[in-house]
Amino acid sequence: MRGTTRDFTKYYNPKLNGELRLDTNTNVLGSNPAAEKYLKEHTWDLNGYPNTYSDGLRQALAELHGLDSDNIIAGNGSDEMLDVIFKTFMDMGDNSVVPVPSYTLYDYFVKLNGGRAIEVDLTDDFQLDVDAMVKQDAKVAIMPSPNNPTGNCFRTKDIEDILSRFNGIVVVDEAYTEYADESFIKRVEEFDNLVVIRTFSKAYAMAALRVGYAVTNKKLADMMISVKIPYSLNMVSEGAAIAAVKDQDFIKRSVAMVKEQRPKLDAGLRKLGFETFPSDSNFILARSPIDHKVLVDGLKERGVLIRDFGAKRRTENCVRTTVGTEEHNKLLLEKAEEVISGCR
Ligand SMILES: Cc1ncc(COP(=O)(O)O)c(C=O)c1O
Repeated sequence: MRGTTRDFTKYYNPKLNGELRLDTNTNVLGSNPAAEKYLKEHTWDLNGYPNTYSDGLRQALAELHGLDSDNIIAGNGSDEMLDVIFKTFMDMGDNSVVPVPSYTLYDYFVKLNGGRAIEVDLTDDFQLDVDAMVKQDAKVAIMPSPNNPTGNCFRTKDIEDILSRFNGIVVVDEAYTEYADESFIKRVEEFDNLVVIRTFSKAYAMAALRVGYAVTNKKLADMMISVKIPYSLNMVSEGAAIAAVKDQDFIKRSVAMVKEQRPKLDAGLRKLGFETFPSDSNFILARSPIDHKVLVDGLKERGVLIRDFGAKRRTENCVRTTVGTEEHNKLLLEKAEEVISGCR
């Protein structure tokens, strides 16, 4: 096995038994209706290749964001975009800056591409340590805003500061940005080093179809597109994503539901003794009043899956739950109360 990947372990892959899934931050309202309708009403020539670079989807996204399709790269989930970023901008042995805690797969994609991940801790209030990040000798600095798993957005002025002071590519991963009020997507031509990535897996409710995209200035986009594997986004998913882009009502409805339920779930968790952290996303990070593993296992036995971050540095004894519908949250809180009272 290649030396740089020898210490890899497998990714999260829970054994499922019909549980309510509040562990992956997908849209709890279910499948994207426009994508579902498209899939029901269309047939495809399965013998033909999809468009090499998903030009149809890039055009639809360009119209949505008021950009040019040459600013956009589309692919197989935003995970593919992460892979393409490190493949394009980092040589073997180069460094990339990754905040801690943040999305666990950044480290994986850096190492997968022969790089070294330099981990820089977030501050105590889970904001970026700008000085520590910009002084690293690295090719790429990456940050999700809103951040996963902490849920909060980073300050716009801190990201602007990193963009102007860091000597390399700055990636702002906006996987959960629909739930927040800020985005860098319209500003990609303002900077020579900004790449924004987005996904159809969360608010768009299409994780099963694996669609994501990157937005950047035309010079960087041209580099990334020539590195990306041709045809990596299949024809069926591309068509469904184009249909989904054209139905913004569903996104608005989904976001409104989260904004209404989030403070209620937060209050319910606090009442049970959790320490919750402020969220701009469709999930909440919370420090458990009992052992994290006992809580997560107890909930799973009772049919509710949430994600355990309790054994990781900086999120000691913490769990992360997706904000559900009113009924989901009620169930989660009831079951959590059962598990917690069983421990006392
Ligand atoms: C911050 C962040 N970025 C990227 C992704 C990957 O999304 P996709 O399904 O588009 O590969 C996730 C998924 O959980 C995420 O939380």
